[in-house]
Amino acid sequence: MKRALHLFALMLCQQMSSAQDSGVQLAQQLINHVQSSELSSWKHLADFLSAAFDENSSGSDSSATEDQYSSARRKALQWLSTDEYAITLSNDANNNNNESDKKQLQLLQRYALATIYYSTSQNGKWNTCDPDTSTPCESDNHRFLSSSNHLSWEGINGKNGLVIWLDLNTRNLSNHCPSSHDSHTQTTVHYDALPPEMALLSPSLELLWLHSNPLLCGRIPSYIGEFSNLQTISVYSTKMSGSIPNSLYNIEKLTSIRLYRCNFSGLISDDMKKLTNLKWLWIHENEFTGVLPDLGELTLLEGITLHGNGFAKLESNSSGLCPLLKGSLKYLWVDCEDGSLVKEGDEWAVVEGKTSCECCTRCFPRDGTVDNSAVAVDS
Ligand SMILES: *[C@@H]1O[C@H](CO)[C@@H](O)[C@H](O)[C@H]1NC(C)=O
Ligand SMILES: *[C@@H]1O[C@H](CO)[C@@H](O)[C@H](O)[C@H]1NC(C)=O
Ligand SMILES: *[C@@H]1O[C@H](CO)[C@@H](O)[C@H](O)[C@H]1NC(C)=O
Ligand SMILES: *[C@@H]1O[C@H](CO)[C@@H](O)[C@H](O)[C@H]1NC(C)=O
Ligand SMILES: *[C@@H]1O[C@H](CO)[C@@H](O)[C@H](O)[C@H]1NC(C)=O
Repeated sequence: MKRALHLFALMLCQQMSSAQDSGVQLAQQLINHVQSSELSSWKHLADFLSAAFDENSSGSDSSATEDQYSSARRKALQWLSTDEYAITLSNDANNNNNESDKKQLQLLQRYALATIYYSTSQNGKWNTCDPDTSTPCESDNHRFLSSSNHLSWEGINGKNGLVIWLDLNTRNLSNHCPSSHDSHTQTTVHYDALPPEMALLSPSLELLWLHSNPLLCGRIPSYIGEFSNLQTISVYSTKMSGSIPNSLYNIEKLTSIRLYRCNFSGLISDDMKKLTNLKWLWIHENEFTGVLPDLGELTLLEGITLHGNGFAKLESNSSGLCPLLKGSLKYLWVDCEDGSLVKEGDEWAVVEGKTSCECCTRCFPRDGTVDNSAVAVDS
Protein backbone atom coordinates (compact mmCIF):
# COMPACT_ATOMS: atom_id res chain seq x y z
CA MET A 1 0.00 0.00 0.00
CA LYS A 2 2.67 2.51 1.03
CA ARG A 3 4.64 1.72 -2.09
CA ALA A 4 1.60 2.35 -4.26
CA LEU A 5 1.01 5.67 -2.59
CA HIS A 6 4.58 6.66 -3.15
CA LEU A 7 4.27 5.79 -6.79
CA PHE A 8 1.17 7.89 -6.94
CA ALA A 9 3.09 10.78 -5.40
CA LEU A 10 5.80 10.40 -7.99
CA MET A 11 3.32 10.42 -10.81
CA LEU A 12 1.60 13.43 -9.37
CA CYS A 13 4.87 15.29 -9.22
CA GLN A 14 5.65 14.41 -12.81
CA GLN A 15 2.25 15.59 -13.89
CA MET A 16 2.79 18.77 -11.99
CA SER A 17 6.11 19.60 -13.58
CA SER A 18 4.77 22.91 -14.84
CA ALA A 19 3.97 24.01 -11.29
CA GLN A 20 6.55 22.05 -9.45
CA ASP A 21 6.31 23.36 -5.93
CA SER A 22 2.58 23.18 -5.61
CA GLY A 23 2.72 19.77 -7.30
CA VAL A 24 4.87 18.35 -4.56
CA GLN A 25 2.70 19.99 -1.94
CA LEU A 26 -0.42 18.62 -3.50
CA ALA A 27 0.94 15.12 -3.62
CA GLN A 28 1.95 15.37 0.01
CA GLN A 29 -1.50 16.56 1.00
CA LEU A 30 -3.24 13.81 -0.88
CA ILE A 31 -1.04 11.25 0.75
CA ASN A 32 -1.47 12.68 4.23
CA HIS A 33 -5.18 12.56 3.77
CA VAL A 34 -5.17 9.06 2.44
CA GLN A 35 -2.99 7.80 5.26
CA SER A 36 -4.16 9.68 8.29
CA SER A 37 -7.87 10.10 7.98
CA GLU A 38 -10.20 7.85 9.89
CA LEU A 39 -12.88 8.20 7.23
CA SER A 40 -13.25 5.00 5.33
CA SER A 41 -13.79 6.92 2.13
CA TRP A 42 -10.12 7.78 2.11
CA LYS A 43 -9.51 4.10 2.46
CA HIS A 44 -11.42 3.54 -0.74
CA LEU A 45 -9.35 6.13 -2.47
CA ALA A 46 -6.24 4.43 -1.19
CA ASP A 47 -7.46 1.00 -2.23
CA PHE A 48 -8.06 2.22 -5.65
CA LEU A 49 -4.71 3.99 -5.90
CA SER A 50 -3.05 0.86 -4.78
CA ALA A 51 -4.87 -1.21 -7.40
CA ALA A 52 -4.07 1.33 -10.07
CA PHE A 53 -0.38 1.00 -9.44
CA ASP A 54 -0.20 -2.71 -8.74
CA GLU A 55 0.74 -3.16 -12.35
CA ASN A 56 4.11 -1.60 -11.80
CA SER A 57 4.85 -3.01 -8.39
CA SER A 58 3.95 -6.60 -9.18
CA GLY A 59 5.57 -6.90 -12.58
CA SER A 60 4.17 -9.89 -14.43
CA ASP A 61 0.95 -10.23 -12.45
CA SER A 62 -1.60 -10.84 -15.16
CA SER A 63 -4.61 -10.22 -12.92
CA ALA A 64 -3.86 -6.51 -13.05
CA THR A 65 -6.23 -4.72 -15.35
CA GLU A 66 -6.02 -1.32 -16.90
CA ASP A 67 -7.78 1.16 -14.66
CA GLN A 68 -10.51 2.72 -16.74
CA TYR A 69 -10.20 5.99 -14.85
CA SER A 70 -6.47 6.54 -15.22
CA SER A 71 -6.81 8.72 -18.27
CA ALA A 72 -9.44 10.93 -16.63
CA ARG A 73 -7.28 11.15 -13.53
CA ARG A 74 -4.21 12.14 -15.49
CA LYS A 75 -6.11 14.87 -17.28
CA ALA A 76 -7.59 16.13 -14.01
CA LEU A 77 -4.15 16.32 -12.41
CA GLN A 78 -2.72 18.08 -15.41
CA TRP A 79 -5.48 20.61 -15.27
CA LEU A 80 -5.06 21.06 -11.52
CA SER A 81 -1.36 21.70 -11.87
CA THR A 82 -1.93 24.93 -13.79
CA ASP A 83 -5.17 25.98 -12.16
CA GLU A 84 -4.69 29.24 -10.25
CA TYR A 85 -7.51 28.57 -7.83
CA ALA A 86 -6.06 25.19 -6.88
CA ILE A 87 -2.63 26.66 -6.38
CA THR A 88 -4.03 29.28 -4.01
CA LEU A 89 -5.97 26.61 -2.11
CA SER A 90 -2.87 24.51 -1.94
CA ASN A 91 -0.83 27.39 -0.49
CA ASP A 92 -3.55 28.13 2.06
CA ALA A 93 -3.75 24.48 2.95
CA ASN A 94 -0.07 24.42 3.64
CA ASN A 95 -0.22 27.19 6.25
CA ASN A 96 -0.49 25.40 9.52
CA ASN A 97 -3.61 26.97 10.91
CA ASN A 98 -7.02 25.68 11.78
CA GLU A 99 -8.28 26.43 8.29
CA SER A 100 -5.80 24.22 6.53
CA ASP A 101 -7.71 20.98 6.85
CA LYS A 102 -10.70 22.63 5.29
CA LYS A 103 -8.62 24.02 2.45
CA GLN A 104 -7.17 20.58 1.83
CA LEU A 105 -10.61 19.08 1.53
CA GLN A 106 -11.66 21.88 -0.81
CA LEU A 107 -8.67 21.14 -2.98
CA LEU A 108 -9.44 17.44 -3.03
CA GLN A 109 -13.05 18.15 -3.94
CA ARG A 110 -11.94 20.37 -6.81
CA TYR A 111 -9.73 17.53 -8.01
CA ALA A 112 -12.64 15.08 -7.64
CA LEU A 113 -14.94 17.28 -9.74
CA ALA A 114 -12.31 17.50 -12.47
CA THR A 115 -11.90 13.71 -12.49
CA ILE A 116 -15.66 13.29 -12.66
CA TYR A 117 -15.77 15.69 -15.60
CA TYR A 118 -13.05 13.91 -17.56
CA SER A 119 -14.48 10.47 -16.91
CA THR A 120 -17.95 11.46 -18.10
CA SER A 121 -16.93 13.27 -21.26
CA GLN A 122 -15.29 10.25 -22.84
CA ASN A 123 -17.06 10.26 -26.15
CA GLY A 124 -17.84 13.91 -26.56
CA LYS A 125 -18.27 17.03 -24.54
CA TRP A 126 -21.08 17.89 -22.16
CA ASN A 127 -23.90 19.77 -23.82
CA THR A 128 -24.04 22.49 -21.15
CA CYS A 129 -21.23 24.44 -19.49
CA ASP A 130 -18.51 22.20 -20.83
CA PRO A 131 -15.04 23.76 -20.42
CA ASP A 132 -15.18 24.14 -24.20
CA THR A 133 -16.61 27.61 -24.67
CA SER A 134 -18.63 26.61 -27.73
CA THR A 135 -21.24 24.94 -25.48
CA PRO A 136 -24.02 27.07 -24.02
CA CYS A 137 -23.54 28.39 -20.49
CA GLU A 138 -24.99 31.29 -18.57
CA SER A 139 -21.53 32.72 -17.98
CA ASP A 140 -17.96 31.53 -18.15
CA ASN A 141 -17.75 31.44 -14.35
CA HIS A 142 -20.39 28.72 -14.48
CA ARG A 143 -18.31 26.53 -16.76
CA PHE A 144 -16.80 23.37 -15.37
CA LEU A 145 -13.07 23.71 -14.83
CA SER A 146 -13.22 27.48 -15.08
CA SER A 147 -10.77 29.29 -12.81
CA SER A 148 -13.56 30.46 -10.51
CA ASN A 149 -14.48 28.79 -7.24
CA HIS A 150 -15.90 25.38 -8.17
CA LEU A 151 -18.98 26.08 -6.06
CA SER A 152 -20.02 28.51 -8.78
CA TRP A 153 -19.79 25.93 -11.58
CA GLU A 154 -23.14 25.02 -13.11
CA GLY A 155 -24.71 22.14 -11.20
CA ILE A 156 -22.53 22.60 -8.11
CA ASN A 157 -23.70 24.20 -4.93
CA GLY A 158 -22.01 24.36 -1.58
CA LYS A 159 -21.71 25.59 1.94
CA ASN A 160 -18.60 26.58 3.88
CA GLY A 161 -16.49 25.90 0.84
CA LEU A 162 -17.62 22.28 0.48
CA VAL A 163 -19.76 20.67 -2.22
CA ILE A 164 -23.36 20.03 -1.14
CA TRP A 165 -25.00 19.49 -4.53
CA LEU A 166 -23.74 17.64 -7.55
CA ASP A 167 -26.45 18.04 -10.16
CA LEU A 168 -25.33 16.87 -13.60
CA ASN A 169 -28.74 16.03 -15.02
CA THR A 170 -29.33 16.24 -18.78
CA ARG A 171 -25.72 17.03 -19.69
CA ASN A 172 -25.15 14.18 -22.10
CA LEU A 173 -22.61 12.55 -19.80
CA SER A 174 -20.89 9.61 -21.44
CA ASN A 175 -18.47 7.13 -19.95
CA HIS A 176 -16.88 3.83 -20.86
CA CYS A 177 -19.64 1.30 -21.31
CA PRO A 178 -18.69 -2.35 -21.63
CA SER A 179 -18.07 -3.74 -25.08
CA SER A 180 -20.82 -5.97 -26.43
CA HIS A 181 -19.06 -9.24 -25.59
CA ASP A 182 -18.90 -8.23 -21.92
CA SER A 183 -22.65 -7.84 -21.73
CA HIS A 184 -23.07 -11.63 -21.62
CA THR A 185 -22.39 -11.38 -17.92
CA GLN A 186 -25.66 -9.59 -17.52
CA THR A 187 -26.04 -9.13 -13.82
CA THR A 188 -22.38 -8.69 -12.94
CA VAL A 189 -21.34 -5.25 -14.00
CA HIS A 190 -17.91 -4.60 -12.60
CA TYR A 191 -17.46 -0.92 -13.03
CA ASP A 192 -18.90 2.13 -11.31
CA ALA A 193 -20.62 4.97 -13.12
CA LEU A 194 -18.32 7.50 -11.46
CA PRO A 195 -14.63 7.36 -10.54
CA PRO A 196 -13.63 6.56 -6.94
CA GLU A 197 -12.56 10.19 -6.50
CA MET A 198 -16.28 10.75 -6.06
CA ALA A 199 -15.73 9.57 -2.48
CA LEU A 200 -13.90 12.84 -1.80
CA LEU A 201 -17.32 14.50 -1.83
CA SER A 202 -18.73 12.14 0.78
CA PRO A 203 -18.17 14.33 3.86
CA SER A 204 -20.47 17.05 2.54
CA LEU A 205 -22.67 15.90 -0.35
CA GLU A 206 -26.45 16.06 0.15
CA LEU A 207 -27.73 15.85 -3.41
CA LEU A 208 -26.56 13.58 -6.22
CA TRP A 209 -28.45 14.00 -9.47
CA LEU A 210 -27.26 12.28 -12.62
CA HIS A 211 -30.62 11.64 -14.26
CA SER A 212 -31.48 11.95 -17.95
CA ASN A 213 -28.05 11.06 -19.26
CA PRO A 214 -28.86 8.17 -21.59
CA LEU A 215 -25.19 7.39 -22.30
CA LEU A 216 -24.17 7.02 -18.67
CA CYS A 217 -23.64 3.41 -17.63
CA GLY A 218 -22.19 1.50 -14.68
CA ARG A 219 -23.16 0.71 -11.13
CA ILE A 220 -23.97 2.81 -8.13
CA PRO A 221 -20.62 2.63 -6.31
CA SER A 222 -20.63 0.40 -3.23
CA TYR A 223 -19.00 3.19 -1.19
CA ILE A 224 -22.21 5.23 -1.57
CA GLY A 225 -22.96 4.31 2.05
CA GLU A 226 -20.22 6.67 3.18
CA PHE A 227 -22.22 9.64 1.95
CA SER A 228 -23.83 9.97 5.33
CA ASN A 229 -25.35 13.38 4.55
CA LEU A 230 -26.93 12.32 1.28
CA GLN A 231 -30.63 13.13 1.10
CA THR A 232 -31.46 12.58 -2.53
CA ILE A 233 -30.11 10.33 -5.25
CA SER A 234 -31.56 10.53 -8.73
CA VAL A 235 -30.17 8.57 -11.67
CA TYR A 236 -33.31 7.81 -13.68
CA SER A 237 -33.21 7.56 -17.47
CA THR A 238 -29.61 6.47 -17.65
CA LYS A 239 -28.07 3.16 -18.70
CA MET A 240 -27.00 2.44 -15.15
CA SER A 241 -27.32 -1.16 -13.95
CA GLY A 242 -26.35 -3.65 -11.27
CA SER A 243 -28.06 -4.04 -7.94
CA ILE A 244 -28.66 -1.51 -5.20
CA PRO A 245 -25.54 -1.69 -3.01
CA ASN A 246 -26.34 -2.78 0.52
CA SER A 247 -24.43 0.18 1.90
CA LEU A 248 -27.07 2.51 0.48
CA TYR A 249 -29.51 1.29 3.10
CA ASN A 250 -27.28 2.82 5.78
CA ILE A 251 -27.82 6.39 4.63
CA GLU A 252 -30.31 7.41 7.26
CA LYS A 253 -30.93 10.88 5.86
CA LEU A 254 -32.12 9.68 2.45
CA THR A 255 -35.54 11.05 1.61
CA SER A 256 -35.60 10.38 -2.10
CA ILE A 257 -34.39 7.53 -4.33
CA ARG A 258 -35.13 7.83 -8.03
CA LEU A 259 -33.76 4.95 -10.06
CA TYR A 260 -36.51 4.46 -12.61
CA ARG A 261 -36.05 3.65 -16.30
CA CYS A 262 -32.59 2.20 -15.96
CA ASN A 263 -31.34 -1.32 -15.99
CA PHE A 264 -31.05 -2.08 -12.30
CA SER A 265 -31.65 -5.64 -11.15
CA GLY A 266 -31.54 -7.85 -8.08
CA LEU A 267 -33.63 -7.82 -4.94
CA ILE A 268 -34.81 -4.99 -2.74
CA SER A 269 -33.24 -5.78 0.60
CA ASP A 270 -35.13 -6.09 3.81
CA ASP A 271 -32.79 -3.30 4.98
CA MET A 272 -34.82 -0.83 2.95
CA LYS A 273 -36.94 -0.48 6.07
CA LYS A 274 -33.97 1.18 7.78
CA LEU A 275 -34.50 4.25 5.59
CA THR A 276 -37.09 5.73 7.88
CA ASN A 277 -36.85 9.21 6.36
CA LEU A 278 -37.71 7.98 2.90
CA LYS A 279 -40.49 9.84 1.10
CA TRP A 280 -39.98 8.86 -2.52
CA LEU A 281 -38.96 5.47 -3.86
CA TRP A 282 -39.25 5.51 -7.62
CA ILE A 283 -37.81 2.32 -9.07
CA HIS A 284 -40.21 1.46 -11.90
CA GLU A 285 -39.08 0.13 -15.28
CA ASN A 286 -36.02 -1.77 -14.20
CA GLU A 287 -35.31 -5.46 -13.79
CA PHE A 288 -35.76 -5.85 -10.07
CA THR A 289 -37.05 -9.23 -8.93
CA GLY A 290 -38.12 -11.05 -5.78
CA VAL A 291 -40.57 -10.20 -3.07
CA LEU A 292 -40.83 -6.62 -1.92
CA PRO A 293 -39.96 -6.54 1.79
CA ASP A 294 -42.43 -5.24 4.31
CA LEU A 295 -42.09 -1.46 4.19
CA GLY A 296 -44.88 -0.69 6.63
CA GLU A 297 -42.45 1.10 8.94
CA LEU A 298 -41.64 3.75 6.35
CA THR A 299 -44.42 6.00 7.52
CA LEU A 300 -43.14 9.11 5.75
CA LEU A 301 -43.45 7.50 2.30
CA GLU A 302 -45.39 9.65 -0.14
CA GLY A 303 -44.78 7.72 -3.33
CA ILE A 304 -43.53 4.32 -4.40
CA THR A 305 -43.46 3.09 -7.99
CA LEU A 306 -42.80 -0.60 -8.69
CA HIS A 307 -44.31 -1.33 -12.10
CA GLY A 308 -42.31 -2.63 -15.03
CA ASN A 309 -40.10 -4.87 -12.92
CA GLY A 310 -40.07 -8.59 -12.27
CA PHE A 311 -41.32 -8.42 -8.70
CA ALA A 312 -43.42 -11.23 -7.34
CA LYS A 313 -47.05 -10.32 -6.89
CA LEU A 314 -47.57 -8.26 -3.77
CA GLU A 315 -48.92 -10.18 -0.80
CA SER A 316 -52.48 -9.39 0.21
CA ASN A 317 -51.28 -6.82 2.73
CA SER A 318 -49.08 -5.34 -0.03
CA SER A 319 -45.86 -5.42 1.96
CA GLY A 320 -47.41 -3.40 4.72
CA LEU A 321 -48.01 -0.47 2.38
CA CYS A 322 -51.81 -0.40 2.40
CA PRO A 323 -52.12 1.10 5.88
CA LEU A 324 -49.74 3.90 4.85
CA LEU A 325 -52.35 5.15 2.41
CA LYS A 326 -54.26 6.43 5.42
CA GLY A 327 -51.20 8.55 6.18
CA SER A 328 -48.81 10.30 3.84
CA LEU A 329 -48.67 7.73 1.04
CA LYS A 330 -50.39 9.05 -2.07
CA TYR A 331 -48.87 7.10 -4.94
CA LEU A 332 -48.54 3.33 -4.95
CA TRP A 333 -47.98 2.23 -8.52
CA VAL A 334 -47.61 -1.41 -9.50
CA ASP A 335 -47.97 -3.78 -12.44
CA CYS A 336 -51.52 -4.76 -13.26
CA GLU A 337 -52.58 -8.28 -12.84
CA ASP A 338 -53.09 -9.64 -16.33
CA GLY A 339 -56.34 -8.13 -17.32
CA SER A 340 -58.00 -5.94 -19.80
CA LEU A 341 -57.48 -2.26 -20.19
CA VAL A 342 -60.28 0.12 -20.89
CA LYS A 343 -60.10 3.69 -21.95
CA GLU A 344 -61.79 6.13 -19.61
CA GLY A 345 -61.91 9.47 -21.32
CA ASP A 346 -58.31 10.10 -22.35
CA GLU A 347 -56.85 7.73 -19.77
CA TRP A 348 -56.18 4.05 -19.90
CA ALA A 349 -57.38 2.20 -16.88
CA VAL A 350 -57.67 -1.39 -15.87
CA VAL A 351 -61.13 -2.79 -15.42
CA GLU A 352 -62.36 -2.96 -11.89
CA GLY A 353 -60.88 -5.75 -9.81
CA LYS A 354 -57.83 -6.31 -11.96
CA THR A 355 -55.24 -4.33 -10.07
CA SER A 356 -52.73 -6.69 -8.55
CA CYS A 357 -53.12 -5.30 -5.07
CA GLU A 358 -56.20 -4.19 -3.28
CA CYS A 359 -54.99 -0.74 -2.34
CA CYS A 360 -52.66 0.31 -5.16
CA THR A 361 -53.50 3.73 -6.50
CA ARG A 362 -52.64 2.84 -10.04
CA CYS A 363 -51.56 -0.10 -12.12
CA PHE A 364 -49.66 -0.38 -15.36
CA PRO A 365 -49.98 -3.24 -17.82
CA ARG A 366 -47.00 -5.55 -18.01
CA ASP A 367 -45.03 -5.57 -21.23
CA GLY A 368 -47.04 -7.20 -23.94
CA THR A 369 -50.40 -6.88 -22.26
CA VAL A 370 -51.31 -3.96 -24.42
CA ASP A 371 -49.64 -1.62 -26.83
CA ASN A 372 -47.14 0.18 -24.63
CA SER A 373 -47.24 3.38 -26.57
CA ALA A 374 -50.85 3.89 -25.56
CA VAL A 375 -49.92 3.87 -21.92
CA ALA A 376 -46.63 5.70 -22.06
CA VAL A 377 -48.49 8.92 -22.76
CA ASP A 378 -49.49 9.56 -19.18
CA SER A 379 -46.80 7.63 -17.33
C1 LIG B 1 5.63 2.14 -14.45
O1 LIG B 1 6.98 1.86 -14.70
C2 LIG B 1 7.47 2.46 -15.89
C3 LIG B 1 8.90 1.96 -16.12
O2 LIG B 1 9.63 2.03 -14.94
C4 LIG B 1 7.43 3.97 -15.76
O3 LIG B 1 7.90 4.60 -16.91
C5 LIG B 1 5.97 4.35 -15.53
O4 LIG B 1 5.87 5.74 -15.30
C6 LIG B 1 5.39 3.63 -14.33
N1 LIG B 1 3.98 3.89 -14.26
C7 LIG B 1 3.43 4.40 -13.21
C8 LIG B 1 1.97 4.61 -13.33
O5 LIG B 1 4.05 4.68 -12.20
C1 LIG C 1 -8.59 29.16 15.05
O1 LIG C 1 -8.08 28.78 16.31
C2 LIG C 1 -8.03 29.87 17.25
C3 LIG C 1 -7.35 29.38 18.51
O2 LIG C 1 -7.50 28.01 18.71
C4 LIG C 1 -9.46 30.36 17.52
O3 LIG C 1 -9.44 31.46 18.43
C5 LIG C 1 -10.07 30.82 16.21
O4 LIG C 1 -11.40 31.20 16.39
C6 LIG C 1 -9.99 29.70 15.18
N1 LIG C 1 -10.46 30.21 13.91
C7 LIG C 1 -11.33 29.58 13.18
C8 LIG C 1 -11.68 30.21 11.89
O5 LIG C 1 -11.82 28.52 13.52
C1 LIG D 1 -24.34 13.31 -26.85
O1 LIG D 1 -23.00 12.92 -27.02
C2 LIG D 1 -22.78 12.05 -28.12
C3 LIG D 1 -21.32 11.68 -28.14
O2 LIG D 1 -20.93 11.18 -26.91
C4 LIG D 1 -23.18 12.73 -29.40
O3 LIG D 1 -23.03 11.84 -30.47
C5 LIG D 1 -24.62 13.18 -29.29
O4 LIG D 1 -24.96 13.93 -30.41
C6 LIG D 1 -24.84 14.04 -28.04
N1 LIG D 1 -26.23 14.34 -27.90
C7 LIG D 1 -26.69 15.53 -27.50
C8 LIG D 1 -28.16 15.65 -27.39
O5 LIG D 1 -25.96 16.45 -27.26
C1 LIG E 1 -30.71 -4.39 -19.65
O1 LIG E 1 -30.14 -5.60 -19.21
C2 LIG E 1 -30.64 -6.73 -19.89
C3 LIG E 1 -30.00 -7.94 -19.28
O2 LIG E 1 -30.11 -7.91 -17.89
C4 LIG E 1 -30.34 -6.61 -21.38
O3 LIG E 1 -30.88 -7.70 -22.05
C5 LIG E 1 -30.91 -5.32 -21.91
O4 LIG E 1 -30.52 -5.16 -23.24
C6 LIG E 1 -30.43 -4.16 -21.09
N1 LIG E 1 -31.09 -2.95 -21.54
C7 LIG E 1 -30.42 -1.84 -21.78
C8 LIG E 1 -31.25 -0.68 -22.21
O5 LIG E 1 -29.21 -1.76 -21.65
C1 LIG F 1 -47.72 -8.96 5.44
O1 LIG F 1 -47.77 -10.27 5.02
C2 LIG F 1 -46.59 -10.98 5.16
C3 LIG F 1 -46.77 -12.34 4.54
O2 LIG F 1 -48.08 -12.76 4.64
C4 LIG F 1 -46.22 -11.05 6.61
O3 LIG F 1 -44.99 -11.73 6.78
C5 LIG F 1 -46.09 -9.66 7.17
O4 LIG F 1 -45.84 -9.68 8.54
C6 LIG F 1 -47.36 -8.88 6.90
N1 LIG F 1 -47.14 -7.49 7.29
C7 LIG F 1 -48.08 -6.77 7.91
C8 LIG F 1 -47.72 -5.37 8.24
O5 LIG F 1 -49.19 -7.22 8.19
